[in-house]
Amino acid sequence: MAKREIPREQGYRLLACGPVTLVTSYYKGDMNVMAASWITPVSARPILIGLCVHEATLSHELIKKSSEFAINIPTIELMRQTRYCGSVSGRDHNKLKVTGLHEAGPHVVRPVLIEECIAHLECAVVEMVTPGDHTIFIAEIVHASAEEESFDSVYLLKERDLRPLHHLGADRFAVLEEQLIADAPTPERD
Ligand SMILES: Cc1cc2nc3c(=O)[nH]c(=O)nc-3n(C[C@H](O)[C@H](O)[C@H](O)COP(=O)(O)O)c2cc1C
Repeated sequence: MAKREIPREQGYRLLACGPVTLVTSYYKGDMNVMAASWITPVSARPILIGLCVHEATLSHELIKKSSEFAINIPTIELMRQTRYCGSVSGRDHNKLKVTGLHEAGPHVVRPVLIEECIAHLECAVVEMVTPGDHTIFIAEIVHASAEEESFDSVYLLKERDLRPLHHLGADRFAVLEEQLIADAPTPERD
């Protein structure tokens, strides 16, 4: 895949339509991947996103200890692997090995990127809040990259297998079908 670096300021747009993600984490030799859909932009300046991770997961332990993680955006072709990564724990399974997903080198953080994914956000944790059973890891996007055919400054929705994958719940997933252009004044925040 021919990925190019994109402005970090555009990084939040990779999350704009709520794709499901594969979050990679690493601490002292342990590399892991989990599915995550509870992710949201938090701030434009500084560039912050929030990732909600259940306290019982291995990912929670690794992210808490290392203060970093990477977000990878899968496509429809990775639906089965995504469900698998969200169904079993890295405490019991080497999910990167079992899925056969290929690792790609990160630019700033230590967790690997997943080569088959269309986009990546490398994130450094700046704050943690645990209001319930999930911790919200608030993190700065320190590097962002995306497949050129998939995202220019927004998702392009060209070929089906270059679109982000969405999780509807349970075993249901979806892809966006059509891009519509709004004929209206541009708001301050888009
Ligand atoms: C589509 C999908 C989305 C998920 N989103 C989240 C999420 O946002 N946060 C979370 O804590 N768990 C989420 N999960 C569940 C975790 O991926 C699951 O608990 C996983 O086994 C944790 O793996 P780990 O112990 O290796 O970190 C999701 C599962 C699926 C299938």
